[in-house]
Amino acid sequence: MEFNVAVLPGDGIGPEVVAEALKVLQVVSEKFGHSFHLREGLIGGVAIDTLGTALADETLKMCKESDAVLLGAVGGSKWDNPQAKIHPEDGLLALRKGLKLFANLRPVKAFPMLVDSTNLKPEVVKGVDLVVVRELTGGLYFGQPKKQWRTAKGRHAVDTLAYSEVEIERILRVGFELARSRRKKLTSVDKANVLQSSRLWRQIAIEISADYLDIELKHMLVDACAMRFIQRPAEFDVLVTENMFGDILTDEASMLAGSMGMLPSASLAGIPRGKTFGLYEPIHGSAPSRAGQNLANPIATILSVAMMLRYSFALETEAQAIENAVLATLEQGYRTYDIMSNGKTRVGTKEMGDLIAQQLKG
Ligand SMILES: NC(=O)c1ccc[n+]([C@@H]2O[C@H](COP(=O)([O-])OP(=O)(O)OC[C@H]3O[C@@H](n4cnc5c(N)ncnc54)[C@H](O)[C@@H]3O)[C@@H](O)[C@H]2O)c1
Repeated sequence: MEFNVAVLPGDGIGPEVVAEALKVLQVVSEKFGHSFHLREGLIGGVAIDTLGTALADETLKMCKESDAVLLGAVGGSKWDNPQAKIHPEDGLLALRKGLKLFANLRPVKAFPMLVDSTNLKPEVVKGVDLVVVRELTGGLYFGQPKKQWRTAKGRHAVDTLAYSEVEIERILRVGFELARSRRKKLTSVDKANVLQSSRLWRQIAIEISADYLDIELKHMLVDACAMRFIQRPAEFDVLVTENMFGDILTDEASMLAGSMGMLPSASLAGIPRGKTFGLYEPIHGSAPSRAGQNLANPIATILSVAMMLRYSFALETEAQAIENAVLATLEQGYRTYDIMSNGKTRVGTKEMGDLIAQQLKG
């Protein structure tokens, strides 16, 4: 089969981890006889420097013409000035919005051989296998008004947490559908004791649960969820939540897997069924202090490619082959610095990519 993939390496460690993911994709192509046509574009700081914008119209067009997008990460201290008119993250937000990617799936798995790499007790982390479905194009990150202003009483700022029924229903349905393909448990995370938007969210979750009688639906306040994540994380199956809640909870959840460098993500434009257009990226940022040193862990990006094969290309066997190659490489004791523990073999970004690619070749 043939697929068009837009590749946006971005800034910092982005290009390094994307290069390793493409190495693995090349092996999939050779081993399973598929053709992946790659087109590269600029996003983030590198796009600001080169094109004067964090996401050029042509780049967005190229992504729209593709079957899927693979992204590294954006940002860095060079573009951090809060007074600047354009920030690298603007490119990412514009891309998600422009591609209508409203559903961000973030699977979190505690690999048994990495239990020693986490800061939590092994018995807490053992068996963690959950997915956070984060709403991606609404909520606090996009609601208007969103501004700062000055009055005689000093400076003020406002952000708005707004959701329509349509936006809430479609993301909840992604959560229910995903739960149906897994252990049939859905936790809807909100702040319904305080926020109107959360009260509507909870009401709609109750209403549409009538279409999913096989799914056990629970509601949980976001603060309680943050606590439960480090208390009894293995109890969760699928969680569905608002944009910013999901952003914060998944950084916390990354510690269950040992490192940000282990967590992939898929941002989809619809319910995952058959071939769904999507953008695939690690959940981590551009880690500027690690960039250019062959240090970064490429596994999150490699696992993002596996998600791309699963959700956008309906290539489940190939996706599992990548996941198995990652597991086997970790089982052989190879570790990047972020997941290193006693008695294991430390490797760099390129070596980890080579080892996984080799493992996949068989
Ligand atoms: N999606 C994105 O592109 C995205 C997401 C978050 C942050 N950012 C940007 O990235 C820059 C750095 O932000 P930050 O430091 O808060 O977050 P970060 O995710 O880049 O780094 C957080 C920590 O995790 C480590 N880390 C991250 N990815 C790693 C990997 N693959 N292997 C090993 N270690 C890894 C970093 O060294 C750092 O200690 C900022 O400019 C921020 O705005 C971008």
